[in-house]
Formats: sequence, structure tokens, C-alpha cells
Amino acid sequence: AEFMRDPMLDFTGNVVLITGAASGFGALAAEELGRRGARLVLGDINAAGLGLVVDKLTAQGIEVQTMACDVSSETDCAAMVALARENFGRLDIAINNAGIAPPMQYFEEVDEETLDLQHRVNVKGVFFGMKHQLKVMRSQGSGVILNVSSMAGLGGAPKVAAYAAAKHSVVGLTRTAAVEYARHNVRVNAICPFYTLTPMVTDIQAPEGATVDQVHAQLASGCPMKRLGKPEEVVSAMLMLCSPALTYVTGQTLAVDGGVSA
Ligand code: NAI
Repeated sequence: AEFMRDPMLDFTGNVVLITGAASGFGALAAEELGRRGARLVLGDINAAGLGLVVDKLTAQGIEVQTMACDVSSETDCAAMVALARENFGRLDIAINNAGIAPPMQYFEEVDEETLDLQHRVNVKGVFFGMKHQLKVMRSQGSGVILNVSSMAGLGGAPKVAAYAAAKHSVVGLTRTAAVEYARHNVRVNAICPFYTLTPMVTDIQAPEGATVDQVHAQLASGCPMKRLGKPEEVVSAMLMLCSPALTYVTGQTLAVDGGVSA
């Protein structure tokens, strides 16, 4: 997509790690960063999906290393960082994007298994990733981390209690790391998108008697712009936060939400 051409969005030579890169925001961010000169280290639990993304990127001459990984495993998160160091000798940018959506449920319907799974992937996945990324970036004396939270990480949203708990935690991890690592020239920010038309939302489970289109229309009606987000609208914000355009910005959460949080 030709949605940005500014020289401040030149990532030539940067080594960029992205989790959840087989689909949605992660796959599009990989392509946009690769086309702007980044060398990529991509991970996803969906190895087959990741393979398809890699084929598309290598066909464009983009340098890519990949790993099938489960971000809820600290070993896997450490291995991804090691892959970046072994192949490229450094790690400039890490995008902790892998995540899962819960079923839409009222608070009283949420069981412990759902709550645990949300924390395993959406909290531990970000925490373990950051832990190992920060170590490398501290020793380099530079780095940028971008975590993918959600509008459900900034405020209340109906029927996503377990997800909201996890995504609020991502904001807490982002702010804490930003404050601790600022002196090492490492920036840590988060984006907080509203419902965006990636596979996570196009394949949303409609409640009985409703269609997916009806669910989308109802979600859009809660947005001042009266529409859901487009993946490229979120990815452009991700690139901005990682870019040298925003070198004095850290510990921030950027809502990309059509005005929902305004
Ligand atoms: P998606 O479902 O298209 O992509 C998520 C990717 O993460 C998939 O490729 C999946 O295989 C991978 N993944 C899931 N669990 C994993 C694990 N344990 N280890 C490694 N990889 C794993 O969804 P989308 O929309 O691109 O989501 C990306 C992030 O954006 C997620 O953190 C999601 O919570 C967040 N988000 C999405 C919104 C939306 O409306 N699409 C809104 C707000 C936040």
C-alpha cells in the first residue's frame, strides 16, 4: 500500500522482530517495514501461514528470518531474539503483536480457562518478548519496542472482560519498561486500536441469530467515525511510533480508534 512515503519512515538496515506475523497487523507491518528497507525476524504459532507471508516478502527482495513460536513460552521468545542477533548481529525494533481474541461474553460468563489463556498469550507473550528484547537493546544502547494493546487496554468495553484485563496489563508493561529503559535510549510505546478488519474481526464469531455483518455494523455504530478500522490505518500508526520521527516519545499509548476514546 502506498499510504506513506515520508523519508522519516525509512527503516533501511534496521533489524525488526515481529510476533504474530502470519496474519493481520503483523503480516502487513512486516511487508511495509520490509519495503522500507528493514531486515525482518518474524514469528508466529501458525507456521504454514508464516510460510506464505515469507514467500510474498522474499519475492519482493526483503531479507527475512522466521521461526515457528509460541509467545507464551519464554524459551521461544528468547530464541526469536537470539535469531535476530545470530543472523543480523543486533535488534533495532521489536513489535509484540501476537494476540488472541476471546469469545464475546458477558462478565459473568467468563471462566477461569478463558482468563488464563488471555493472560498466557496476551500478557506473558508480551512480557517474555520484552524481557529478552530489552536486554539486547540495553546493551546496544538503543532500541524501540512497540506493543499492540487495544482500545480495551485503555477503557471499559462490553463483553471483553478477560481481554480487557490482559490488554490493560500490556499498557502497564509498556509504561514500566519505558520509564526503566529511557536512560538506555530504548523507547517503549503501545498502540490501542479499535475493531479493525483483520482476520481476527472479519472471522468474528456472531452470536446465534445474527450475521457477522450485523455484528460489524453494531460495533461500527459505537465509533464516532461510524466505521471499523482498516489494517493499513493501524499499521501506519505502528510505523510512525517505531520511526525516527518520534524519538522523544516513550511510554505512550496511541489510540487508533476513529475517535472512540476521544
Ligand atoms: P490476527 O488473528 O489476524 O493475527 C494474530 C496473529 O497472532 C496470528 O497470525 C496468530 O497465529 C498469532 N498468534 C496467536 N497466538 C500466538 C502465540 N501464542 N504465539 C505466536 N503467535 C500467535 O489478528 P490481528 O487483528 O492482526 O491481531 C494482532 C494484534 O492486534 C493482537 O494482539 C490483537 O489483540 C490486537 N488487536 C486487534 C484488533 C482488531 O480489531 N483486529 C483491535 C485491537 C487490538
